[in-house]
Amino acid sequence: MTLSARELGFRYPSGGGVEALDLDVAPGEIVGILGPNGSGKSTLVRLLSGVLPPATGEVRLGGVPLGALSRREIARRVAVVPQEPSFELPFTALEIVLLGRHPHLAGIAFEAASDLEAARAALARVDASALAERPVGSLSAGERQRVMVARALAQSTPVLLLDEPSSFLDLRHQVELFDLVRALAAEGRAVAAVLHDLNLAAEYCDRVVLLADGRTAAAGPTAATLTYAHLTRVYGTEVYVDVNDLTGTLVVTPLSGRARARLAADSPRPPAAPRA
Ligand SMILES: Nc1ncnc2c1ncn2[C@@H]1O[C@H](COP(=O)(O)OP(=O)(O)OP(=O)(O)O)[C@@H](O)[C@H]1O
Ligand SMILES: [Mg+2]
Repeated sequence: MTLSARELGFRYPSGGGVEALDLDVAPGEIVGILGPNGSGKSTLVRLLSGVLPPATGEVRLGGVPLGALSRREIARRVAVVPQEPSFELPFTALEIVLLGRHPHLAGIAFEAASDLEAARAALARVDASALAERPVGSLSAGERQRVMVARALAQSTPVLLLDEPSSFLDLRHQVELFDLVRALAAEGRAVAAVLHDLNLAAEYCDRVVLLADGRTAAAGPTAATLTYAHLTRVYGTEVYVDVNDLTGTLVVTPLSGRARARLAADSPRPPAAPRA
């Protein structure tokens, strides 16, 4: 199911928001949504999932406008891993994941054995089976993040929206999560992922959109878009872009103040004026 947005715009009373955003995510692909803090990435995710109604433009799911679908119909099609999940309720990890099954239940029916099975399978896919009975409030940040991914998996939707799903994950769990996301895309899901880690984006995203001040600053195939010029301009800090000679993937390293000073000192100086 293709997710597409045209001319999306939304403004908070604070003045922040997004403007004139176009985005298409087709089955089988992972599209990265990148950009600095406050550039509108989470706002875009909220608009794409129908949590926020757009002020301008439209989101379509498989050609159907989001506005024509009920919350429940949207939840059967789109699963979201939010950037800041709230965990005030005293649920266990398994109960949180089971919530992901609710859009599939008839009326106010209780979960069936198959829903429990789907929830346990989802926890297993993110290496979180051992956390099933733990209250989510007692989990570490990375453990909680994996439980939220499991909830989205249990929802078994054709579209997945991930807002910084790996920000708290250790190296192994980052790779395992994105290998899993890659496998889900290969099965035919359409995935959009907000990422701050440009190296993960370079490795896993087919295409990326770089946001700046709520607008698209650059968009296209990952390697052609994550360039020195685009990144330095959009993030407002200098980066070094190289190619990993093992994988051929781009490697992006931010340049520290010390590195920039060394570069400036090493760069050729104009020849000294001849002495009189
Ligand atoms: N609930 C809100 N009320 C008012 N302003 C908001 C709200 N949420 C976001 N904003 C503002 O809208 C702009 C975009 O915010 P958004 O959360 O989409 O940024 P982001 O790209 O996800 O940033 P980050 O990388 O920090 O998660 C920011 O200027 C932010 O301050
Ligand atoms: Mg955000």
